[in-house]
Amino acid sequence: MAKNTSSPRPVPTLQEQLPELREGQSVALLQELHILTREGKLNQDTRRKLKQVYHLVQFIEPLLAEVLAARGDVTLADHGAGKSYLGFILYDLFFKARPVGRVTGVETRAELVDKSQALASKLGFERMDFLATTVQEALTHPGLPPRIDVVTALHACDTATDDAIAFGLAKQASHMVLVPCCQAEVAGVLRQHKALSLARSPLAELWRHPLHTREFGSQITNVLRCLQLEANGYSVTVTELVGWEHSMKNELILARRMADDRHGARARARQRLTQVLNELGLPELKTRFAVESSGSEPPAVVV
Ligand SMILES: C[S@@+](CC[C@H](N)C(=O)[O-])C[C@H]1O[C@@H](n2cnc3c(N)ncnc32)[C@H](O)[C@@H]1O
Repeated sequence: MAKNTSSPRPVPTLQEQLPELREGQSVALLQELHILTREGKLNQDTRRKLKQVYHLVQFIEPLLAEVLAARGDVTLADHGAGKSYLGFILYDLFFKARPVGRVTGVETRAELVDKSQALASKLGFERMDFLATTVQEALTHPGLPPRIDVVTALHACDTATDDAIAFGLAKQASHMVLVPCCQAEVAGVLRQHKALSLARSPLAELWRHPLHTREFGSQITNVLRCLQLEANGYSVTVTELVGWEHSMKNELILARRMADDRHGARARARQRLTQVLNELGLPELKTRFAVESSGSEPPAVVV
């Protein structure tokens, strides 16, 4: 049998395994987050998450820089933080090298909050805090800075994304960066009124079958969220986070608070929002999407 004389394939460098890796990025952090193994190899299980986070960071960094340039400081609240991959990588890449700025992770699971707080201390990430609370309660939590410039919510479960929007509106955040997760609330209301809707409009065929109810419910939820943001003075961009092969929950909603209300955009969005809710037989969701809670001006800051 012929002997294999070819030399063994060289071990790929970290940069080759992870082209997104940036100069100065903490390898210790990536190991602590189990993105890299102790041997410095990329953990394939976390690769997908990492791709999403890196993509999101590309969108968020310019927003942080813009706020920092405008007011000399910048605060970010990450809702439904989980293990805080996003918060940690943002801190490492943006905040660490700057003397100001603060990141607060909001997460209901106390054990994740404790772990993240311990990791932040270990890495010397001093301007990073974690609160074991709900997004809803975070609004009045004394642990949060009174001013929040950027709100993020990456796959915050179900209505936690809506709570993050309500939080951002109340704080008059300059930017919101949202990647919604599964959403059941709207589908539940569509289901409840299905028979009536089918009698009223042939368009109710769009959500007649249970699978369509779920998918259409999810789609319409994001449409309503965008209108809600526009009705409150934000301009909204909807795009894809990463390729569909990486995640099915892939819609990225970017909202920027506008200084003025050009051409009555707020009132128009508010009217559209009400019309869509009425057309789809969802008037009980008016409170959720804040149609009834305020006028066309954004709500006052809650501190
Ligand atoms: C799917 S995980 C996403 C975690 C993280 N953002 C990420 O993308 O890796 C959703 C997280 O949101 C948390 N969560 C769900 N509802 C919440 C709420 N109302 N307030 C705060 N955290 C919530 C869950 O405990 C969970 O850790």
